[in-house]
This record gives sequence, C-alpha cells and structure tokens, in this order.
Amino acid sequence: MEMNFFAPVRIITGKECVAKNAAEFSALGKKCLIVTGKNSARKCGALSDVQNALESVGVAYEIFDGVEQNPSYKTCMDAANIARSMGAEFVMGIGGGSPLDAAKAVALLAVCPMDAETLFSGKWDTQPLRVAAVGTTAGTGSEVTSVSVITSPEGLKKSFRAPSLYPAVCFGDASYTLSLSAQFTRSTALDALCHCVEAYFNRTTNDICRTFALRGTAILLEMLKKTAECENCVLSFDDREKLYCASLYGGLAISVAGTAFPHAMGYFLSENHGIPHGNACAVYLGEFIEYNIKNAPEDAKEFFDSLGTDKESFASLVNKNLPQINVKLTGMEIEKLAPRFENNKSLNKCYGKADREFAVSLLEKIFGV
Ligand SMILES: [Fe+2]
Repeated sequence: MEMNFFAPVRIITGKECVAKNAAEFSALGKKCLIVTGKNSARKCGALSDVQNALESVGVAYEIFDGVEQNPSYKTCMDAANIARSMGAEFVMGIGGGSPLDAAKAVALLAVCPMDAETLFSGKWDTQPLRVAAVGTTAGTGSEVTSVSVITSPEGLKKSFRAPSLYPAVCFGDASYTLSLSAQFTRSTALDALCHCVEAYFNRTTNDICRTFALRGTAILLEMLKKTAECENCVLSFDDREKLYCASLYGGLAISVAGTAFPHAMGYFLSENHGIPHGNACAVYLGEFIEYNIKNAPEDAKEFFDSLGTDKESFASLVNKNLPQINVKLTGMEIEKLAPRFENNKSLNKCYGKADREFAVSLLEKIFGV
C-alpha cells in the first residue's frame, strides 16, 4: 500500500486550550500580528483569550481586524504591510476560513510582497512567517491545511498552497462555536462534510486520508441529524466539540487529498450569488455521491458500509440542512462559467471523467432555466 501523508501542525483542542498553552506562542516569536474579522473573534471570546495569553508570555502584538468574507488579495497585502512595518515574527489567525486563509497569505506576503498572479501561480520560493491558528467555527479545517483561498483582483476565488504554509500550531476550543447561529452551524458543518466526502472519493486519496474522512463523516452525520431538527441549534458543548473535531478530520483529509468537483463548482456561487461556502459546495453533494457510485462503485460501497448508511439517507440528511438555493442560470451564463472548468485541478482529481463538458451539463441540470 502506497501512502504519503504530511500535515505538520500541532493540534491542541479542549476547553481553555489557549490559556493553558500560552507557552506555544512565545516559541513562535516576540512580536505577532493578529489577523481576524470585524466582530466574531471579539464576540466569541477568542480574541480576548489570545490577547491575555500573549500578554502572559510577553509577546507584543497588533491587531488587524479588517478581514472580510472571502478575503481579497488587497486586504491581505494591507495586513502584510502592517506585519512588515511592525516587525512581526509570526501571524495569528483567529476565526473561520476567511481569517485563517488570510493569515497564511499575510504570513507569506509580509516576507515577500508579490502581485496576485505570482501569488496564485505558487511559483515563489519564500519561507513565510509562521502562523498560529485559532478556530472559531466548525467547518473550514483551514487550521490544519497548507491551503489558502483568496479572492483575486478579478473577483475569483483562487487557492495557493505550500508545505511551509501549514500553521505551526492550531487551537480548537469549541466554546468559541457555542453561539454560532443555526444557519451558520449547518452551512459550516456541510462544508466539513464536503471536505470528508471529496477527500474520500479522490484520485489522490490514501488510507490515512480515508480514515480521517470516514471518522469525520460519521460524526457529521450524527450531528447533522441534530442540526436538521433543532430550530435554533442549541447544541451542547460536547456536540459542538464533536463538530469541531470533525472539521479538523475533514481538514486533515483534504490537506493531502484535496477537494473534488463540489468545491470547484461551488466557488462561483459564493462569488456571484453570495451563497455561503458550505451550502455552495453541498448543493452538489448528492450528485457527487451518484457520480462516484457510477465511477467508483467499490469505493462507494465501502464508504456506505463503513458508515452503516445508504445514499438515500445520506442525501436526505444533506437536504434537510441545506436551504433552498435560488440560482437560475441561462445557457449563456453557463457558457461564461465553463472556462474555469477546463483542465481544473479539482475536477481532474475525481474518478471517472469530470471535465468541462461534465461541469456544464451538471450546471444545466441543477441551475438551468
Ligand atoms: Fe471548504
């Protein structure tokens, strides 16, 4: 059996894990730029926990709290300029996917400013500042990946990755996720589920990825039953912790295997139609399962046997958590989207033949007028 798995992140979880492990921060340097969004890190208590921890070990810091949803290249450059001028030795991302992905870009751009094209080409040979990541949502898994998804100056969500972009350490205290809304909890859980399923059915997967993917999926199916039924999603701490850990398993699985067509085809729904990332990917999950039953039948059988479920129950659970997506596309609009599915890396990694033609016909099937 051939395997190659590399995910060098120290993962620390549990109640008050930031305060209990403040020494981890001083090991990264004496000065740090905190990269976060406007409100959520303050509201959930993560920002003050981090500030207290940094102060307790004598690390100086500044706060950049201008990270928006789907962070832009320009925002990352602005934060990188601050990191450079203050002499930051490491970058602390606090938040969900947007701040964490931005933190990775900032860590790189602070050391080596470059234009967006060069950034996304991955053709740079720079050792970024080290990154610490504090997760405040249960979905992205960005805490444990070397991938950053940033919006290009043209308005497209694009990713870059490098082994040097793995956070040195990540902290997951599920207390920060307790007050997340029902809607947000569902969409982020669906994102994590997509990570697990897309990593499982992937040409580049291996047994380690699949082990994480299956464990993550099992937890998510259990939790999605609860989130589908509870009006306001008042989940217990234990359930929030399970959800958070499942998001880490999904992150670890995609950190090596990568994603497949649900992610590749979901980006435009966030860019052009404001659909939350998790929902934008999950709208394809049912089709992705059907596709793999056809193109990788043995793997699909093993997947469902291991989970003790079937495709109907799986799809029904996804649908119960997925709000109606009211997007309609004309033939011309679909043609305009088509070039991005030409020789697309995530499509190429699907079993069978998921090419531009396939993507166009799937868009017609789901969104065609
Ligand atoms: Fe995702």
